[in-house]
Amino acid sequence: MGILQSLTIRRPDDWHLHLRGGSALAAVLGFTTEHFARALIMPNLKPPVTNWDMAWEYYESIRALAKQKGRGLNFKPLMTLYLTDKTTPEDIAEAKKAGLVIAAKLYPANATTNSAEGVTDIKKLVPVFRKMAEVEMVLCIHGETLVSESFGDDTRNGRVGQLRREAVFLKESLKWIVHNFPSLKIVLEHITTREAVRFVEKAPPNVAATITAHHLLETLDAVFESHHNKCMPTLKEEPHRQALLDAATSGNPKFFAGTDSAPHAKSAKETACGCAGCFTAIDALALYATAFEERHALNRLEGFLSDFGADFYGLSRNTDTITIRRQEWKIPNEVPFGDGELLVPFWAGRELHWKTD
Ligand code: NCD
Ligand code: ZN
Repeated sequence: MGILQSLTIRRPDDWHLHLRGGSALAAVLGFTTEHFARALIMPNLKPPVTNWDMAWEYYESIRALAKQKGRGLNFKPLMTLYLTDKTTPEDIAEAKKAGLVIAAKLYPANATTNSAEGVTDIKKLVPVFRKMAEVEMVLCIHGETLVSESFGDDTRNGRVGQLRREAVFLKESLKWIVHNFPSLKIVLEHITTREAVRFVEKAPPNVAATITAHHLLETLDAVFESHHNKCMPTLKEEPHRQALLDAATSGNPKFFAGTDSAPHAKSAKETACGCAGCFTAIDALALYATAFEERHALNRLEGFLSDFGADFYGLSRNTDTITIRRQEWKIPNEVPFGDGELLVPFWAGRELHWKTD
């Protein structure tokens, strides 16, 4: 049998995407609309998208811009609310009613980019989680704990080390949420560790996880090589990457694609304490194909990219298709990011062997 030259699959959805606003939004939107039918849009803008009115306004601005781009007319942004200490069950009910907002995002305060207004004590959100379960709104979680009262190897003066933040969150927070809200649908976003893979495998069917392309392709070493590989949760060591590849290529529908493509201006990355986030949207499907090919698992790509996420969210699967072709090309060193800024993609300047039509 000859080597596979192209792969035609159901058109995928991106279950975790940062689009920003203004000229940055205008600069990056087309990359996603070209390949994906829908994307779950993260709410960590400045100020964050905390209620229905803001979600609606953001949705409208994305739709207005999308209409000006090639396939954009067909693109559907799926909106999320940003949970804060002040979120009320009424905020949830109101956002759910109109149908555009399908999930709410839990950022532990200060865990990542624009999360200063995130949640300081998840136990205070009990009424909010209850309402979410009742109206069937999905809870998306940035699963990292920064500060912990537990002592031992995971902490230093109460602060949890970068490499242990996800594992501590599973033990100290996620276990509690899953136990207390058995009918709440939960997505543990951008998982990075074998602990997270095991947790999700063992959890009941209402718990799933997204996996990024960059966590399938790179390890912690890459963070020391370039500012552009810095992201939250950070890339981990090789055994964790292998566990993520196991999960993504397993065919288990609890694991599906969310790119966490997170653009930041080159000038904001290439500085002493640069922003966290990898921009993978230029050709996220080609990056995922590259990772799956490492495991000779391209036959499992469609389920992971196009089926399992829609099924979990209770939305219909897309009906048209897209083709990813074996083709040598180079990821550009930079692309325009609006207002005279530049954006450096993940794996800038690298040769890829797959390209999406
Ligand atoms: C994201 C961003 O830049 O908004 N950054 C990141 O490193 N992934 C936020 C997030 O998803 O944590
Ligand atoms: Zn993200």
